[in-house]
Amino acid sequence: MAEARFTFPKHFLWGAATAAHQVEGGNTNNNWHAWEQAGRVAGGHSARSACDWWGGRWREDFDRAAEAGQNAHRFSVEWSRIEPEPGRWDEAALDHYRDMARGLRERGLEPMVTLHHFTDPIWLADGGGWEVDRTEAFTAFTIKVVEALKASVRLWCTFNEPNVYVTMGYLMGVFPPGVTSPAAAATVMRNLLAAHAAAYHAIHRIQPEAQVGMAHHYRGMAPERPWFPPDRWITTYHARKFNGAFPAALHAGWLGLPLGFTRAAGARGTQDFFGLNYYSSDRVRFSPFAVRELFGRRSYPKAAEVSPTGFIANQPEGFFEALRWAQRFGLPIYVTENGIEDAADRLRPRYLAEHLRQLWLAANFNWKVRGYFHWTLVDNFEWERGWSQRFGLWELDVETQARIRRPSADFYSEICRANALSSEMVARYAPEAFADMFPNE
Ligand code: FCB
Repeated sequence: MAEARFTFPKHFLWGAATAAHQVEGGNTNNNWHAWEQAGRVAGGHSARSACDWWGGRWREDFDRAAEAGQNAHRFSVEWSRIEPEPGRWDEAALDHYRDMARGLRERGLEPMVTLHHFTDPIWLADGGGWEVDRTEAFTAFTIKVVEALKASVRLWCTFNEPNVYVTMGYLMGVFPPGVTSPAAAATVMRNLLAAHAAAYHAIHRIQPEAQVGMAHHYRGMAPERPWFPPDRWITTYHARKFNGAFPAALHAGWLGLPLGFTRAAGARGTQDFFGLNYYSSDRVRFSPFAVRELFGRRSYPKAAEVSPTGFIANQPEGFFEALRWAQRFGLPIYVTENGIEDAADRLRPRYLAEHLRQLWLAANFNWKVRGYFHWTLVDNFEWERGWSQRFGLWELDVETQARIRRPSADFYSEICRANALSSEMVARYAPEAFADMFPNE
């Protein structure tokens, strides 16, 4: 059997992505903890001790990542630990993150650090959250973090998925603060963007060689009934607003709001790389009743193959579209998240193989793809979905903290080590994808 081999560019980064609140445990000083206590998470779940990274288990998990051939890792810092009260800085928390960043370097992993991944300190949330201009506070926080970690960290994400943060928290009301107001959403968007731009410059003042970006969530979208103009219009509207608003602001200096646009001249040019999170693609249907969803009801095609809780459909072509779209901005691209919830690891190997093939295609068009961070290393706390979804390459026993390696961890490990995906690997780990991926065999 002839072997096909999809080789990735030299120096490609291979890693996993994590976020503080989802892995640390014991984060009781942020708005998500309050949300969990208020019973707003599925099954009444809360993060509890999560993966116990605050207790030190990041060490064993970084060992796992290194031993599995990964050469990079994306993690986030928790603002409520670093600044537990306005203006009071916790040096021990900064030391903790410094140890983590250094710990990655010592293991041969390139760190990428996210400053804001969905959670806010309770003092910030109680004081009006991001409906208030937080540029000054966020910049002060950024400076503290960058000063503390600059010896080990060169890659920075200011915000994770600001479009998801705004949509879930200020339009759908399923993330804190549970608001459903397009006007509030618009204010928050402006404030996030201003904070990002200020942080971008602050980071570069401290560390001129830094590479700074955001992790943008891109959702593939197609009209559910292509022959029906309202479906087409609402799809275009959603694609522009949801996918396009923040990238366009950083590129062209205009921020698309739920209604209309606003100038955002100061944000123009404030990203050095394009961070892309891609999971799946939607069909969009116009619905006059879907007010919170801004009149676009999203769903998966009926024939789609979905993850156990129906959260993610395996749609690798959408990933290629996402990459095509991202490369238009002309920047190096890091895939900052991609993955699937799949406790039994039934679909994940194929999802991984098929998505990485799309990434390889993009690399072969000479699009500037520089790295891939799989979501995620070890099962973690999945926001409003609690512990009902398992995204890890390693399974987590939440009661005992035991980690159990899934076959996908081995598969990914072979890919990372080879800097390539081969037909032979697919035959072993995802045989059901083989005929589709290598049709001439
Ligand atoms: C993304 C989030 C990440 C994780 C994955 C499944 O939207 O950035 O924290 O929850 O979804």
